[in-house]
Amino acid sequence: MTRTLDICNNFYKTKKISYEDFKFLMELTDFSELNKFARDLTIKSFGNKIYIRGLVEISTYCKNNCYYCGLRNANKNMTRMRLTKEEILKRVEAASLLGIKTIVLQGGEDDFYSIDYLLDILKSIKSNYDMAVTLSLGERNFDDLEKLKEFGANRFLLRHETYDEEHYYKIHPFEMSFSNRIETLYKLKELGYQTGCGMMIGSPYQKLINLYEDLNLILKLKPQMVGLGPFIPHHDTPFRDFPHGKISDVLKILSIVRIANEKVLLPATTALGSIDSEGREKGILAGCNVLMPNIGDEKLRQKYRLYDNKIGTEVENSDDFLNLNEKLKKIGYEISLDRGDYKGDGRYV
Ligand code: 5AD
Ligand code: SF4
Repeated sequence: MTRTLDICNNFYKTKKISYEDFKFLMELTDFSELNKFARDLTIKSFGNKIYIRGLVEISTYCKNNCYYCGLRNANKNMTRMRLTKEEILKRVEAASLLGIKTIVLQGGEDDFYSIDYLLDILKSIKSNYDMAVTLSLGERNFDDLEKLKEFGANRFLLRHETYDEEHYYKIHPFEMSFSNRIETLYKLKELGYQTGCGMMIGSPYQKLINLYEDLNLILKLKPQMVGLGPFIPHHDTPFRDFPHGKISDVLKILSIVRIANEKVLLPATTALGSIDSEGREKGILAGCNVLMPNIGDEKLRQKYRLYDNKIGTEVENSDDFLNLNEKLKKIGYEISLDRGDYKGDGRYV
C-alpha cells in the first residue's frame, strides 16, 4: 500500500490525522490517489448524483470590511443592489419551475433585511413552495437565528474563514469578532440548522498549519456542509496584490474533508470554477457532491463581485439546466433534483 492510501485509510477509520500526515498529503505532487479515495467515498454515499442548490444573491450591501472581499463596506467603487421580497420570490419561482428544491439566500451583512422582513420572506417561500431554505447572510444575533429556524429555515452557511484567531485578525478588522463567529456556528448547530462552515484556501497570511486547524474545527464542530474555495484577489480591496489560492491545494483539501465525513454536503464552488475553467468538474472528481448555480439574471451577477473574474453559473431556463447536466455527464455524473438534506448521523466516527 502507498503511504497516501495508508494515511487515507487510517484517517477514514479513526477520524484523526497527525499534522505530519496532513502535511504529507498537502505536499503530494501527484494527488490523484487522494482524489480517488475521496471520490469513491462520495460515490458510495451519493452515487453519481450532484445536488443542485438555487443560489439567490439578495444583497451586495455589507456593513463589514473583510480585507479580502469586494463587497466590503469601504469599497466605494461598487454599485450596490439588493432584492425586495417580490424580486426574491420571482427567483424562487424560477428555481421551483426548474425542479430545484433548495434555495440559498445569500448576501452581505445588510441591516436592510430586518428580522421581520426576513421572516415575512421566509413565510412566503415556505407556504408556497416545498423547498429547503438555506440562509447565508452572515452573523445575526441568536434570537434572530432562533426565529428564522422556527419559521422554517433549514440550513445556514457561515464560513469561519480561519480557525486561527491571529490569522483571523490578519484578514478581518478588529471590529469583527472571531469568537462570535465560532460561537454562532455552534449555536446554529444547537438550534438544529444543517450548518456549514468553511474557509478560503490560500488566503493572505495563511500557513499550512492553519488549514490543519480548519480541518480540526470541522472534525470538532461536525458541520453538515463545508464551503471552501480558493482565495481570489479583488482589485478594490487591501489584498489586491496577493496571489490567488492554488487549485491543487483546494482539490487536496476537498478530498481530505470528504474523508473526514463521507456524508458531508460539499459544493464545488464558483470560486473554484473561476480559477480554472474545469475547476468545478475537478472538484466533483475530488469528492464534491453539490453545485450552487445562480438563479437569475446576469445583470445582477455583474454586481455581485466578491473577487475578480468571477464566472457566471446562471441557470435561467431549462436549456441552461440541460447544459449543466451535459457537463456533468461528460465526467460520469448527473443532476439530482432531490432536496439533498444531510443524511449522516452527526457523528463522524
Ligand atoms: N476570494 C474568494 N472567496 C471570497 N469570499 C469573499 N471574498 C473572497 C475572495 N476574494 C468568500 C468568503 C465569504 C464568502 C461569501 O465568499 O469565504 O465567506
Ligand atoms: Fe461582507 Fe461577507 Fe464580504 Fe465580509 S466576506 S465583507 S461579511 S460580504
